[in-house]
Amino acid sequence: MQSKTNRQWILSRRPEGDIKDGDLVLKESPIPKPGEGEVLVRTTYLSLDPTNRIWMSDMDQYMDPVNVGDAMRGVSSGEVVESRSAAFKPGDKVMTLGSWSDYYTAPAAALQHAPKLPGLDFRDIFGIFYLVGPTAYFGLVDIGAPKIGETLVVSTAAGAVGSIVGQLGKALGCRVVGIAGGRDKCAWITGELGFDAAIDYKSENVAAALKKHCPAGIDVYFDNVGGDILDAVIGQMNLFGRVAECGLISMYNATGIVHGPGNYPRILMKRLKIQGFIVIDYMARYPEAFRALYALYQQGKLKWKLHEVQGLENADKAVRLLYTGGNTGKLLVKVS
Ligand SMILES: NC(=O)c1ccc[n+]([C@@H]2O[C@H](COP(=O)([O-])OP(=O)(O)OC[C@H]3O[C@@H](n4cnc5c(N)ncnc54)[C@H](OP(=O)(O)O)[C@@H]3O)[C@@H](O)[C@H]2O)c1
Repeated sequence: MQSKTNRQWILSRRPEGDIKDGDLVLKESPIPKPGEGEVLVRTTYLSLDPTNRIWMSDMDQYMDPVNVGDAMRGVSSGEVVESRSAAFKPGDKVMTLGSWSDYYTAPAAALQHAPKLPGLDFRDIFGIFYLVGPTAYFGLVDIGAPKIGETLVVSTAAGAVGSIVGQLGKALGCRVVGIAGGRDKCAWITGELGFDAAIDYKSENVAAALKKHCPAGIDVYFDNVGGDILDAVIGQMNLFGRVAECGLISMYNATGIVHGPGNYPRILMKRLKIQGFIVIDYMARYPEAFRALYALYQQGKLKWKLHEVQGLENADKAVRLLYTGGNTGKLLVKVS
């Protein structure tokens, strides 16, 4: 049944360092009405993503930051409640860049139908195939461009993107070494996902562990963290190695000056290529990623975990899990 009010998380001030109580506040307002060409959506799942912290800050970034006083932006999935567009009808399942709210309106052009992937739940399709999968796929295949027999290293390896990258790397014939925080995460990626080795950056010396697990050096690094781990990996990259610069989560809550890698000269000496990317640049090619990942899933070579938190009211606490490593796999909030 449709409730009468809409709860929305509002960015009430820009966080300094870690997200704190009061940076976001939950407010109630009437359910919005769709204008001509718009659709009213009831959120089912909200995706929590490390980039949420970027959007909360006013740093130079790849899209406009969320304004203080506005609803927090979020990748969300939902069901169409009311449509003033011929492209959608009530009951359609959609995905979009929405907001942290029970309901929102969006122009029809901004909404996507869920891809049809038989046998998979809407939750899996949204959580893994909508953005995480294409991020892993295009970053690895287009930018990392791994060849059979090469060594691939990936950080946040037990997270949403990293866990998919590692399995893709195995399917492409690489030796895959994952970097993750904690024994359980390392055991999951080697024991269940088929990574060749895992490095627990919280208890091991990353440079020494890389030497041990990458005896032939590193050809491709899928970087999700930046900082000291990026520096350690660059220090062991091979001639003409490639870095797919996907994320810098170790730096998102930084308050002071963030220094670049000390191993920078190696980029020249080893002729490394480092390329940043944002998955939305690849939107026109998403079906290619869906096909490749779905085929791997059907062959039993792609697994994932969804970390589900119940209730929109818990979103502001849940998002912090991403920066402490409290999640394993894709972090979602079940809204309705
Ligand atoms: N370029 C793009 O288009 C794009 C799209 C999606 C995501 N991303 C990026 O991809 C990365 C992973 O995103 P995700 O959605 O898959 O999140 P995720 O890996 O599921 O969750 C974030 C993980 O980051 C790790 N982490 C947090 N602080 C860290 C630190 N200081 N040092 C090392 N690891 C740390 C934690 O795992 P541990 O327990 O292992 O520390 C945490 O579980 C992020 O950097 C994100 O910004 C980029």
